[in-house]
Amino acid sequence: MTKRKVKKKPFIILFIFLLLVGGGIFGYFKYQEYINSTPYKLSKLGYNEQEQKYLIENSKDINKILEMEYNPDILKFMKEKYYLDKNLDAYLSYRKDHLDLSITNIVSIINTGRDKEYYENTKQTDVSKKEQMLVNKYYYLPKDYAPENVVPISAQYAYANNSLGQEVLDIYEQMWKDAKDDGVTLIVTSAYRDYESQESTYDSNERKEGKEYADAYVARPGFSEHQTGLALDIIGYGTNRDTFEASDSFKWLSENAHLYGFILRYPKDKEDITGFAYEPWHYRYVGKEVAKQIKEENISLEEYYAYYIEGNQNK
Ligand code: DAL
Ligand code: ZN
Repeated sequence: MTKRKVKKKPFIILFIFLLLVGGGIFGYFKYQEYINSTPYKLSKLGYNEQEQKYLIENSKDINKILEMEYNPDILKFMKEKYYLDKNLDAYLSYRKDHLDLSITNIVSIINTGRDKEYYENTKQTDVSKKEQMLVNKYYYLPKDYAPENVVPISAQYAYANNSLGQEVLDIYEQMWKDAKDDGVTLIVTSAYRDYESQESTYDSNERKEGKEYADAYVARPGFSEHQTGLALDIIGYGTNRDTFEASDSFKWLSENAHLYGFILRYPKDKEDITGFAYEPWHYRYVGKEVAKQIKEENISLEEYYAYYIEGNQNK
């Protein structure tokens, strides 16, 4: 029997042909996959490998970044501690007109709404936030809002005709006693003020000192946190607003007030954010934990609220 000789050559050609076609198709799909991939699209926009990696890992909405032009500021903003995704467009557009400001500063301004005019686009504050409620030149209280259990502060702790919500008063009294043990006598010059009394404080300041001064130091009625019953103007007994800052009582409060839940509400380096001039005497009760955090992070209540309260709701 003669062995039929099978011709191998055509099979080999077919095999090679199929291999090439298969490889081509595979390669084509792989290529398609590659040019549709996020790293490729980012690289086409101009982002280097390191930037691509950062954006992919950290952006909550990468498609949005892909729709934007290459902008290295995007990464700078994203690396900020208090960066909020929802504010990215606003940071970038504010940056265009404020190249002199730092990225950190812009994040703070936009987060706290400081890019808008004072007393415009105001909204009623959420009083359910209790001791963390925010009252400033953008957030107001209803005219008839009053804290619970307002009681007079006794003469030992405050000048005449001052009152406060019982809960905050108890905490203040404890702080007063501890300060006394350390040889410091504190005195409250102003505490809870209702809408009408804030109105007369503002009006008399405006009459005496002019509108600019009044707006730097006194909130317009409805916009003062003195109406919350959580704010206290505290100085050292025997000092006044001019001498207080150089006194032991100021030092004691600076070092200890947060342990009781009070923060210095209008610090020197935060005037642009709080909207008020530095007030070394104005303390605000926010609770111990929050006071500690605000002090440690060196932020204002505005910044805390924007990032940790409002920001957390829709980051
Ligand atoms: N002095 C503060 C800002 C107020 O009037 O509430
Ligand atoms: Zn005050």
